[in-house]
Amino acid sequence: MSVWYDNENRTAYLSGGDVSYVLFRDDENHLLNLYWGPAVPNGSLSYDPADYMPFASFDLPLSLIPHEIPVCGRGWNGTPAVGLLNSAGDDVVDLRVTDWYTQAGKAPLPGLPATYTEKDAEADSLIVCLQDPDTGVLVKAVYSVFSESGAVTRSLTVENASAAPVFLTGLQSASVPFWSSDFDVLHLKGAWARERSVVRSPLGQGEYRIASRRGASGHEENPFIAFCDPKADEFSGGVWALSLVYSGSFAASGSVDNAGHARLSIGLNPDVFTWKLNPGESFTGPEAVMVFSSHGLNGMSQLYHRLYRTRLARGTWRDRERPILINNWEGTYFDFNEDRLLAIAAEAQKLGIELFVLDDGWFGKRNLDNCSLGDWIVNTEKLPHGLSGLSDRIHALGLRFGLWFEPEMVSPDSDLYRTHPDWCLHVPGRTRTESRNQLILDMGRPEVQEYVIRAVSDVLSSAGIDYVKWDMNRNMTEAVSLILPQDRKGETMHRYMLGLYRVLETITSAFPQILFESCSGGGGRFDPGMLFYMPQTWTSDDTDAIERLKLQYGTSIVYPASAMGAHVSAVPNHQTGRSVSISMRGDVALGGNFGFELDLTRLSSEELDACAEMVKKIKGIRSLTQKGTFWRLVSPFENSFAAWSFVSEDRSDVLFCAYRVLTVPNMPPVRVRLHGLDPEKTYTDEKGRSFSGAFLMQQGYSVHLRSDFSSEVLHFRVK
Ligand code: DGJ
Repeated sequence: MSVWYDNENRTAYLSGGDVSYVLFRDDENHLLNLYWGPAVPNGSLSYDPADYMPFASFDLPLSLIPHEIPVCGRGWNGTPAVGLLNSAGDDVVDLRVTDWYTQAGKAPLPGLPATYTEKDAEADSLIVCLQDPDTGVLVKAVYSVFSESGAVTRSLTVENASAAPVFLTGLQSASVPFWSSDFDVLHLKGAWARERSVVRSPLGQGEYRIASRRGASGHEENPFIAFCDPKADEFSGGVWALSLVYSGSFAASGSVDNAGHARLSIGLNPDVFTWKLNPGESFTGPEAVMVFSSHGLNGMSQLYHRLYRTRLARGTWRDRERPILINNWEGTYFDFNEDRLLAIAAEAQKLGIELFVLDDGWFGKRNLDNCSLGDWIVNTEKLPHGLSGLSDRIHALGLRFGLWFEPEMVSPDSDLYRTHPDWCLHVPGRTRTESRNQLILDMGRPEVQEYVIRAVSDVLSSAGIDYVKWDMNRNMTEAVSLILPQDRKGETMHRYMLGLYRVLETITSAFPQILFESCSGGGGRFDPGMLFYMPQTWTSDDTDAIERLKLQYGTSIVYPASAMGAHVSAVPNHQTGRSVSISMRGDVALGGNFGFELDLTRLSSEELDACAEMVKKIKGIRSLTQKGTFWRLVSPFENSFAAWSFVSEDRSDVLFCAYRVLTVPNMPPVRVRLHGLDPEKTYTDEKGRSFSGAFLMQQGYSVHLRSDFSSEVLHFRVK
């Protein structure tokens, strides 16, 4: 059992891998956090409140003790984990533990994405029941610990057991106190086409907060935050990380109080969330996944990668080798017809590409981004044989066929909008703010959910479709559902997410053979919530290989390579105007689910030969890149150079990738130390050169990349 509790000493130990997370009920039944870090033996810790108190303080004791679920009104001064407004109009909450018990395995979260187990032995759960003695409100905190990794998940359910309505005003799925504040805070910031850059800053008194109030996790911030030992690097040092399995508005913070206690917290964004609970009603918040590693940032990332690849992603395609695809978006944009698509597909077939994806523009009268979203009816002017005709022809070439949708949207110029102008998020009487000429459907409304399920399912049943790209190209404005009463308007954004999740669950389970890829103007919703329904996500609309070094490096802080779409596109690159060799473009894209996004009919025969070589190479390495352990070796954020590697579980197969951005004169070779090899074994590359594992890890491999935008990829094997 990975959960152990001792009622006499009122402590509970959640242990797995080399990690322990320890809770304590004080003598007044407040739930406290005693410890989170390297594994400690069960029963080895005790609590002394004096450890948390300054010698003399103006502050109330309740503001200083290490609350596990902090609440307002009795001395706590930070963000509450459970914010409540009761029927008397005050926000005072007092949570006392009434019971705790263990359960084998890990239960699903109804209606919400969450990590899961396949066998009960993989995790154990601790359920802590708390109650506010004055209002009767109940809180159930469900913790699960994965025995292999020590990853701890938490979700909170709030039940109104009182006789009057209460309003939930905030819910932080995880809120972990620390004994000191000597940390750096780490998060992933970005913008459209520049998602998930690694940001690390020293933590100081006050609050370091990141958030999205866009109704999507967003390009700007990712639902992830971590504390690192100031000396932690990629390979060593403590890292404590929180990731939220959610795709909507979130908030996360690292804060420090005036006594030097830090806290790391993540959950729903209280700025754009309230939820009314009538007597007897309950609310369950999204799951937070807490990961600790004493092996630096790579250690933390590797724990997330394995968990998210194998126990968050689901379905037929979770473990299967992903097909090499060609997507027509940057190749043709809206300017295509069946002949042009088939010409590209025919070239693709010659190169050994396996999947042809038709992107935006196949439906309604959409020749620009100003119409037809919502009208999921094939445009027979462009595709005279319909989708099934096109799909049959693509299949006849031996390729699979994939299709783009943007189902959560409606164009004002569409039959759907003309029929149901009230289905979008809007405030009656106010201008409906458009973005990319489109409005956003209120996915919280059951009739909208049914429409989307039916419209998408009809198309998927009408033709042989093997892959779907599910796009979402704008964030919410006027996020106020028409169907909700005034005192429930603050539920709109979260109800949208619940509706979307229901739709995704329904469609992905009805079409289990289809590979789904999520997208949001590139990586604007690259989050664990979407990964539960779709095992891969389009990383970014920036396809420039040099920019992709940072994009893929930053994304890998939390997400596995098997989650990232990575395509070779044309030069000059459409986002940056930069020209990079075809071989380097391929060497960068092999770090994710590999594909092409250009018009193959316009490539020279040399370029086509290079593409064919690349396809052959990818087929030989993709099981390693999808399932191997990913090591970040040299950061493109700190150097004009980057390196990473993939190492198979048995350490016999290693793909080493190095990239030079800009060169300088008289440049010495760069020695890159590899990690995770077997020091005793000999590794031989495709050029027949052999190196001992110990040598590659101690002295490193010498990279001689001396020109701008150049790369070297080596496949080492133990013979
Ligand atoms: C945004 C996506 O990120 C692109 O790849 C492409 O699908 C366009 N939308 C199409 O409108």
